[in-house]
Amino acid sequence: MPESITITDNRTGESIEVPIVDGGVDAAAWRKLLPNVWFLDPSFSTTAATTSAVSEVDGENGILRYRGYPIEQLAEHSTFLEVAYLLLHGELPTPGEYDKWVYDITHHTFIHERFRKRFMESFLHDAHPMGMFVSTIAALSTFYPEAKDIDDSQNRMHQIVRLIAKVPTVAAAGSRFNSGLPFVYPDNNLDFATNFLSMMFKIAEPTYECDPAMSRALDLLLITHADHGQNCSTSTARVVGSAHTDPYSVIAAAACSLYGPRHGGANQAVMEMLYEIGSYENIDPFIKAVKAGETRLMGFGHRVYKNYDPRARIIKDAAYDVFEVTGSNPLLDIALKLEEVALGDDYFVSRRLYPNVDFYSGLIYQSMGFPTDMFTVLFAIARTAGWLAHWVELLEQDSRIARPRQVYTGSTERTYTPITERS
Ligand code: CMC
Repeated sequence: MPESITITDNRTGESIEVPIVDGGVDAAAWRKLLPNVWFLDPSFSTTAATTSAVSEVDGENGILRYRGYPIEQLAEHSTFLEVAYLLLHGELPTPGEYDKWVYDITHHTFIHERFRKRFMESFLHDAHPMGMFVSTIAALSTFYPEAKDIDDSQNRMHQIVRLIAKVPTVAAAGSRFNSGLPFVYPDNNLDFATNFLSMMFKIAEPTYECDPAMSRALDLLLITHADHGQNCSTSTARVVGSAHTDPYSVIAAAACSLYGPRHGGANQAVMEMLYEIGSYENIDPFIKAVKAGETRLMGFGHRVYKNYDPRARIIKDAAYDVFEVTGSNPLLDIALKLEEVALGDDYFVSRRLYPNVDFYSGLIYQSMGFPTDMFTVLFAIARTAGWLAHWVELLEQDSRIARPRQVYTGSTERTYTPITERS
């Protein structure tokens, strides 16, 4: 027998039976029986805003799959560009499709020189690279006005290639400007991750070279951050996309949401926390302050994962590969001890708070030489692939503009008082 629930309106005694399909019930039935009774769900903890086939997050069991493929397998065998293709197309590419995809991305990495000089270099010298990133991506919409034709799937794919190709260039340009270093042009002979490292760190050498373990670690971090169901920034992308806004503005809006310390800004916040703790003897007082509600243990907890975040496990392992090249990060010991203390403390255990993706990623980024304020930008480079996959999925669904209701709790009608009569 198919599973269902029955809703009864106790005011009238009327009932309606609603089937449970794929773990959800259709709110249209609720609307039909109970017009103007709104389902109050701030933060969408109980609301599925869409159906989606892009990534599956099973928080109870600590599972993440992109298009059905476990994140552990993709982390072991794939590359970020292959994962981006998978997210966008739904299938892994054939060798021919992969080569064309990599070629197309590699040949769209440049940004217009005047745009970079006149627009990007007009920021204050110490502008946060994430602020520069969101503004520059939004400004690209003025540069590619044809992107507004979102109904043309070929045009859509052209903008997608541009975005995936250009986000590392924009990100690195912001960082170099912020550090007072000259811009480094993309190098088409390098793979995606190494090219980004080159744009970040190249000084005067003719061709940038780095230990392959560094490129691989960065690629792995991009893979693990590429998509994650209907998180805050992806939901932002879908809400903005539902208004049929162009893709540059959609990605900029999503990146704004990622900027916050509760979301993609957490990796920077983790490093600041580790610095503040500084040594073993400060761990206990810090944990005490967390338990007293004075601060949060950054990099811990997740709305969906109530078990170990599978991405955190992959990243923790990758950290050791990087440290073999760079030498250990002194903050690693504090992070490991902090994790041990928290995982043995009832406050965290009872609330099912475990390390999330951001707990160890910052340590790797720092050891690789990335400035702390670039960490969220790195997250944005990876998540652009996921945001775009959801944007395409949204446009191919029979979607209406996102327009939640509210439960109004303000004043009832009152009469305007002229300012002279107000005391
Ligand atoms: N440190 C201490 N207590 C916490 C933490 C934390 N990191 N996270 C949750 N709690 C407590 C919270 O105080 C509450 O306790 P009580 O029931 O006594 O009031 C309980 O756990 C439930 O917390 P919540 O705020 O209702 O949980 P949420 O699902 O709304 O928040 C979260 C999820 C990720 C925003 C939150 O866990 C948090 O702020 N973590 C730190 C920031 C962080 O690491 N963010 C990165 C998330 S992963 C990257 C991404 O996908 O964006």
